[in-house]
Amino acid sequence: MEKLFKEFEKAGERAYRRKRELADSMIEELTVHAYIEEEIFYPVARAAVPETKDHVEEEEDEWFPEVRSAMGRKRLQELGQRMLDARGDAPKNPLELKSATA
Ligand SMILES: [Fe+2]
Repeated sequence: MEKLFKEFEKAGERAYRRKRELADSMIEELTVHAYIEEEIFYPVARAAVPETKDHVEEEEDEWFPEVRSAMGRKRLQELGQRMLDARGDAPKNPLELKSATA
């Protein structure tokens, strides 16, 4: 993702085609990321430790560490593997995400 952003920034002002391609790749990457979060990460993490707040910063500061310790090393490794495996099932079109119509 960072590579895509860097290339986008470096691309000339009139490199419209390349920028369009880069933007499409970014959308695909974000869609895969969102799919994995929605389908795998959040359901598993919420089952381990129910979320109490819906604010993003609290999530990273408090909820993630709670999830980490509640699940333990082995289950976290299994979760990580499931997330990697899910890449292949992910849509590339963001409108195919469940959250797109929720
Ligand atoms: Fe995310």
